[in-house]
Amino acid sequence: MTITHRDNDEILGRAELDDIEAILSVSNQDLDEVEHAVKDNADAIFTWDYSLARPQLRKLYEKAKTGQWNASTDLPWDTEVDLEQVVTADQAAMMAGLSPDHYAGTIVEKWDDKKWLEFGIDQRRWTLSQFLHGEQGALLCTAKITETVPWYDAKLYASTQVMDEARHVEVFSRYIDEKLGGSFQVNAHLKMLLDDIIQDSRWDMTYLGMQVMVEGLALAAFGYMHQLTEEPLLKQLLRYVMSDEARHVAFGVLSLREVYEGMTDAEMKERQEFAYEAAVRMRDRFLSQEVWERHGVNPRDVVPLVLSDPTREMFQQMLFAKIVPNCKKLGLLDRNDSWLRHRFEEMGVIQFEHLEDTGEEYLKFELGADAVPA
Ligand SMILES: [Fe+2]
Ligand SMILES: [Fe+2]
Repeated sequence: MTITHRDNDEILGRAELDDIEAILSVSNQDLDEVEHAVKDNADAIFTWDYSLARPQLRKLYEKAKTGQWNASTDLPWDTEVDLEQVVTADQAAMMAGLSPDHYAGTIVEKWDDKKWLEFGIDQRRWTLSQFLHGEQGALLCTAKITETVPWYDAKLYASTQVMDEARHVEVFSRYIDEKLGGSFQVNAHLKMLLDDIIQDSRWDMTYLGMQVMVEGLALAAFGYMHQLTEEPLLKQLLRYVMSDEARHVAFGVLSLREVYEGMTDAEMKERQEFAYEAAVRMRDRFLSQEVWERHGVNPRDVVPLVLSDPTREMFQQMLFAKIVPNCKKLGLLDRNDSWLRHRFEEMGVIQFEHLEDTGEEYLKFELGADAVPA
């Protein structure tokens, strides 16, 4: 039987990957929303088999127990953060080196240094706000995995991740509140992705969407910001979060490897499509359309330039540095005539396939380890 994948229209809701108009037409319509309900469509599974069947997951569980930290007492919350100074120093941070010269002929060409600084500050608020919302997504997803995964060892591990994610929500929320003086609502592309992950009834899809894709991207993005910023509180906060996050990605890779080995081509096709959809949603969200809007700029005027900004391009690709090798390890790249490999080629991120996957690499991220992998 030949496997035919769905096309972009069906997977993404647009024919062209880079259709800016279609990307920007997805926006958050309810900025005052306080609660958001999503059906999770899944059975909670008991297991009566309490044997140690998966030593790698049990090792991860032991690591998680000793790797716990206390967000209230282990971080220097009394650090004074001079936001203007920090953003100036990290101007490239996360928004990743927008080069003002690149915007000649647009409304932002006239922006002076002060205006770019204001924009940079909002960019920082936006970035950390999306981290925060993503962390809450991880909190809900791991609570769901604790219920739905049929393996005892995985339930034990997933329960520790619930606590880790609670801590992550706590630290990002507190940092935004105490040090940044402003936040942003969830980006619509991120929200759509989180909804899709939670809604899927199949337990391995929660892992694929969250542990491999969202957390794989988070690990790369946190690592980038950790390297870049000299703000001591943020730097340490990210270091602590990364020590957990690497374990979470390892949890996904170690669990799914076993499941995917036994899957048919038709089943793998659906996993490949889901990984692709997740990758594109995350790329779309990094266009940070809400920040432009807040500064009176129509994103349609500048986003095409953002996409072609050379420094920006490097940043955008780097976000996939963990995702691609992990997808490769799981067999997702090359099953079904290498369909996902071709999609990652189109996205310009396939070059990361030879980097180390996170199945073992997580050990290098432990607190106390000398050097954190870039
Ligand atoms: Fe997290
Ligand atoms: Fe996580």
